[in-house]
Amino acid sequence: MEAFIFDLDGVITDTAHYHYIAWKELAKSINIDIDEKFNESLKGISRLESLESILKLKGREYDFSYEEKVILANKKNDYYKELIKNVTPKDILPGIKELLNETKDKGIKIGLASASKNADAVLQNLQLKDYFDFVADASKCTQSKPNPEIFLMAIKGLNVDPKDCIGFEDASAGIEAINSANMYSVGIGDENVLKEANYIVKNTTDLDFNTLIKKYIQYYS
Ligand code: G6P
Ligand code: MG
Repeated sequence: MEAFIFDLDGVITDTAHYHYIAWKELAKSINIDIDEKFNESLKGISRLESLESILKLKGREYDFSYEEKVILANKKNDYYKELIKNVTPKDILPGIKELLNETKDKGIKIGLASASKNADAVLQNLQLKDYFDFVADASKCTQSKPNPEIFLMAIKGLNVDPKDCIGFEDASAGIEAINSANMYSVGIGDENVLKEANYIVKNTTDLDFNTLIKKYIQYYS
């Protein structure tokens, strides 16, 4: 095993919920209501593509120019940035710090493959930056998950073979991206949503280092 590569929002911390609150607020300002079920489809998707998808809900994707869409997306980001100001190490999801420590102790590299341009700020607030050997830069990524691009960037940055990596995701698009990158995929959350994952756990507390390695070995043997 060479590396563990993590998604951020909804895996390391519950910022997935903050993205939802910020999108809900933005959508409300243009008279669109979104619920948690729809929000599931936004997880792992870039800012502008998420907006596009919200507008499509009501067939309004042609009501706004590109410039207007950028303004709306920036407004969502302003809400989001306000929300993540309050993120502290207490917001690291249970079990994650233990897993990161054990991974480091075993000499396995740690990477981040988040589509969020705010990933660095969130890692900083969580005081987790030092754990990461490589953080893929979302601003250099041209294709949203389920495209594997961001995971491939992390694989390259860590200089590892995808077959020797485990990827962790809370979104169905993210699991698809991990699978397309030829890594072993671990889904965290609802098994109906994450059914394409090689191994699924309900919560981050269920992420046990030895079990992960055992499952990974079983898969390739
Ligand atoms: C992650 C989240 C998405 C978010 C995307 C872009 O993939 O799961 O909900 O839209 O990042 O985040 P950003 O912070 O750049 O708007
Ligand atoms: Mg996520």
